[in-house]
Amino acid sequence: FQSKSLAGKHVLITAGPTFEPIDPVRGITNLSSGKMGYAIAQAAWEAGAKVTLISGPTALAQPYGVQRVNVQTAQQMHDAVMSALKAQVQDVFIAVAAVADWRVANASDQKIKKTSDSDTPQLEFAQNPDILALVAALPNAPYCVGFAAESENLLQYGAAKRIKKNIPLLVGNIGHHTFGKDDNELVLFDAHGHAELGRADKQTLATKLVSELAIRLKN
Ligand code: C5P
Repeated sequence: FQSKSLAGKHVLITAGPTFEPIDPVRGITNLSSGKMGYAIAQAAWEAGAKVTLISGPTALAQPYGVQRVNVQTAQQMHDAVMSALKAQVQDVFIAVAAVADWRVANASDQKIKKTSDSDTPQLEFAQNPDILALVAALPNAPYCVGFAAESENLLQYGAAKRIKKNIPLLVGNIGHHTFGKDDNELVLFDAHGHAELGRADKQTLATKLVSELAIRLKN
């Protein structure tokens, strides 16, 4: 009899894009499908964890056994993460969401009307909270895992990002064309250096990542 590697652990995950409104019918989002985050949520549940998934808008089915909270904006994602941390001590936080760096500061309550051919709305932006950095800075922070999608110099930027975010584990996507795809290639960065997880479908990689995570939680 072998017990499951994350048995009894509480794991909080963010996934998908965020949607930042411009007005009631328009907004700014990105191409994250949520597939990697949902695959990790499923793998963590299969490993015995109690999983809470804070999800931006995606077209994906509810992962079996996972408690999902749906949000739209980065601010809502931040608030849902903080409530989940208040409701239950979480052992692990995995930030997979592609959170918008900026929101529209002057979003309109009413649909913005097209007035003339030359008149265009002037959008102003405000910075969104860095959810991962804020969670990592909490007293008694859970074990924090971040993701990085860099278009070049991944080995250098990945190691630097892990230290800047002050997290024990960072997962780098090799190549930046992973959004929406079923396949991915991952490399792990921790205090000991980096290790390649190889190229595979996202569910296989999620299972590998969860095993690597379980090993690190035991140490
Ligand atoms: O700094 P960068 O956006 O490249 O970092 C990516 C990592 O930080 C991902 O794990 C992402 O989920 C997380 N993040 C976040 N909140 C933000 C921006 C990024 O949690 N506002």
